Amino acid sequence: MTHHKRYSQLPWKLAKLSVFLYASIFFSVIYLCLNSNNCNFFAILPKIKNQENTVLNLMEGSAVTAKQFHKSDKGNKIIFHKSKDSSIQKFISNRKKEKLSRTVTQLANEETTDSASNSSIYPHPFQFLINEKDKCKKKTPFLVLLISTKADEKQHREAIRKTWGNESVVPGIKILCLFMLGFSDKDQNENILQESRKYHDIIQQDFLDTYKNLTLKTMMGIKWIATYCNGTSFIMKTDSNVFVNTIYLIQEVLRPIKSPSQYFFTGCLMKNYEPNRNPDSKWYMPKELYPSDRYPDFCSGTGYVFSRAVVPKILSASLKVKYVHLEDIYVALCLERQGITISPPLKQSFFNIYRVPFVTCVYSNIITSHGIDPTEQITFWQTLQKKKHMCHK
Ligand SMILES: *[C@@H]1O[C@H](CO)[C@@H](O)[C@H](O)[C@H]1NC(C)=O
Ligand SMILES: *[C@@H]1O[C@H](CO)[C@@H](O)[C@H](O)[C@H]1NC(C)=O
Ligand SMILES: *[C@@H]1O[C@H](CO)[C@@H](O)[C@H](O)[C@H]1NC(C)=O
Ligand SMILES: *[C@@H]1O[C@H](CO)[C@@H](O)[C@H](O)[C@H]1NC(C)=O
Repeated sequence: MTHHKRYSQLPWKLAKLSVFLYASIFFSVIYLCLNSNNCNFFAILPKIKNQENTVLNLMEGSAVTAKQFHKSDKGNKIIFHKSKDSSIQKFISNRKKEKLSRTVTQLANEETTDSASNSSIYPHPFQFLINEKDKCKKKTPFLVLLISTKADEKQHREAIRKTWGNESVVPGIKILCLFMLGFSDKDQNENILQESRKYHDIIQQDFLDTYKNLTLKTMMGIKWIATYCNGTSFIMKTDSNVFVNTIYLIQEVLRPIKSPSQYFFTGCLMKNYEPNRNPDSKWYMPKELYPSDRYPDFCSGTGYVFSRAVVPKILSASLKVKYVHLEDIYVALCLERQGITISPPLKQSFFNIYRVPFVTCVYSNIITSHGIDPTEQITFWQTLQKKKHMCHK
């Protein structure tokens, strides 16, 4: 009897359960069908990701579903539109609106980063404030020294003019010495103008002279060579606190090179360096700016030397390579893009990114030493010229 009762109650319970199940399945199917537009929507995403005007392409690209969307008057938000107004549709439409606007915001963000990286490509927009257009015209130089310097480093410049930057330092070989500056402020610029009138060895463009703009400074120099001095055989880029044994550089490295119309690039070769991700570091490189875990081989910006053939190559690559503020890395990225390999120096000891303690017969066989102040430039140079004949080669 009890059995019987139990068994007779079961079908009724089952019936209730199945009605509930059928109902849930029914509503789930309806929900999924209505929502399937989203699938279309996501399917077209990868295709349009790279396109320029993402929001507009989104509208066109999803023409099937686009009927249900329209652009609202306020801003670029896309509003989901439905003809019917039942509460379940409202619920669904709200869900879609959320999803959609989230995706559109994401896309908009991607688009801004895209266009930011696009605009971060160096477009050469700066004008010369001080130029030396004719510096190269009289006689084609063998070597142009491009020295990165700041407005308040007049002493550094004076010392370099008197020492390794003296344009008649090697008899019979024409050297040009150019100091590269950005703009800092009006008062200082008066002094710079005066200095320029006196020595005619300054070039300056109208970008702000800051650490993060050092790449602009180097590119100014390279552009100057391309525009006003494309016949020079070699170019050296260095800094105002570097001692450069120009005589040794020319004798030992540059004169033996037969053809400056071949690609040649050398300096203190830095291999397998990782970007510095410490925000407090001078060499900090944000991951957003340079995502890769390795730098290409590069030559320290304290001193690198290259042949004239490299100039147009760096210049054209710079129209495509994303701007990074570390100028030596940037130049290396340009070289990498052009498939130009860096030549290691004949001797490891030639280019030094640190300060080499002064010993005459050491300095007579190196090319660069870093961290040298103006008075040292003069004493080191004078001592070297006086005593180097006593050193073995
Ligand atoms: C920058 O983007 C514009 C359009 O967005 C494109 O035409 C141009 O080629 C891009 N520039 C570079 C250097 O990629
Ligand atoms: C550069 O060197 C030459 C020859 O040694 C010398 O006559 C001239 O005074 C030097 N220039 C400067 C600015 O010291
Ligand atoms: C670089 O120079 C440009 C042009 O003068 C300036 O707008 C920008 O702020 C400078 N960038 C930095 C990081 O100093
Ligand atoms: C260098 O400049 C001269 C004169 O402006 C020009 O005729 C020549 O084509 C240029 N050479 C290169 C390699 O750009």
